[in-house]
Amino acid sequence: MTTLAIETSCDETAAAVLDSEGNVLASEIATQIDLHRAYGGVVPEVASRNHLLKMRPVLLKTLEVAGVSLPEIDVFSATAGPGLAGALLTGNTTAKALALAHKKPFISVNHMEGHLLSPFMGQPAGIQPCVALVVSGGHTMLIHLREFGDYHLCGNTRDDAAGEAFDKVAKMIGLPYPGGPEIDKLSKVGDPKAYDFPRSMLSRKDHDFSFSGLKTAVLYSLDKLNKPLKDCRPDLCASFQEAVVDVLTKKTIRLAQTLGESCITVSGGVSCNSRLRKAFEVCAHKAGLKLLIAPPSLTTDNAAMIAYVAWQKAQRGLFSMLEEDVDPNLKLAEATV
Ligand code: KG4
Ligand code: ZN
Repeated sequence: MTTLAIETSCDETAAAVLDSEGNVLASEIATQIDLHRAYGGVVPEVASRNHLLKMRPVLLKTLEVAGVSLPEIDVFSATAGPGLAGALLTGNTTAKALALAHKKPFISVNHMEGHLLSPFMGQPAGIQPCVALVVSGGHTMLIHLREFGDYHLCGNTRDDAAGEAFDKVAKMIGLPYPGGPEIDKLSKVGDPKAYDFPRSMLSRKDHDFSFSGLKTAVLYSLDKLNKPLKDCRPDLCASFQEAVVDVLTKKTIRLAQTLGESCITVSGGVSCNSRLRKAFEVCAHKAGLKLLIAPPSLTTDNAAMIAYVAWQKAQRGLFSMLEEDVDPNLKLAEATV
């Protein structure tokens, strides 16, 4: 079952092909970051227009690298949400049109399910029960994954997503968009103990997050700097990053222990963060938990993770109707009560 997937939920035009065993034959990404940087964030209309321009070259390159032709594809799939409506429509409609033209099935994929399952790609044991932390630009979720398709939302952010906090704090201190990778880089030469930023919601028993207080704490600290901002940036970044990492690691480990799960996974764009990856390795080891984190190439938006979900669905006969629309607010899992 050779699977092709297209991902256009935000500002990356991506396509990927998996072989019948679920191995990645090709995964191509055309990023629009440079176009959006001038605006300090993603401009939806600019994103949609550029997906249209990039779609054909990205698809052709993906097929070339995979060494397959369109008639050899057995299943076409695309992200259906969550994301920007116009951006989603470009990739979703392309995949549906290809499915129709080649008389092959189509599969709709939830972008967050792509992130959620990405740590299992290439794992011989496949998908296994775990507590999953999904941290991206729009989401911060703690999910109890029991098996494929059985996801229970145990914790969520009450305000900003972790990636959003990285991006907003970076903007506040004059770093370019997207802020996450910039903060990651500068933190390497900063002191994580220089500023005592709050670890919000850590003392609470629930599994929710809040990052707006931390963001405000960074803002207030800017009024009290004893050196020019440029010289304080590494310490500000490292201290902010440490506060985020501290909360994410502790809450994830705590939920795994509460639920009696022996495996944790971390996924989504923020799981690219070098300090977060290191801290999870140390904490999971100390707690005796198995840790799965996707390689950095699969953490930020890509189509390989979308193809992986489609491949899983195809094996279970879970195909979609061509009439199925995109949904910018598509949900992954409902909260447990
Ligand atoms: O998963 P993703 O590519 O897109 C969404 O689905 O949102 O995540 C993008 C987010 C952005 O907020 C970006 O700043 C953050 O992931 N990010 C990072 C790093 N790389 C990307 N945050 C912290 N450290 C990084 N190295
Ligand atoms: Zn994403």
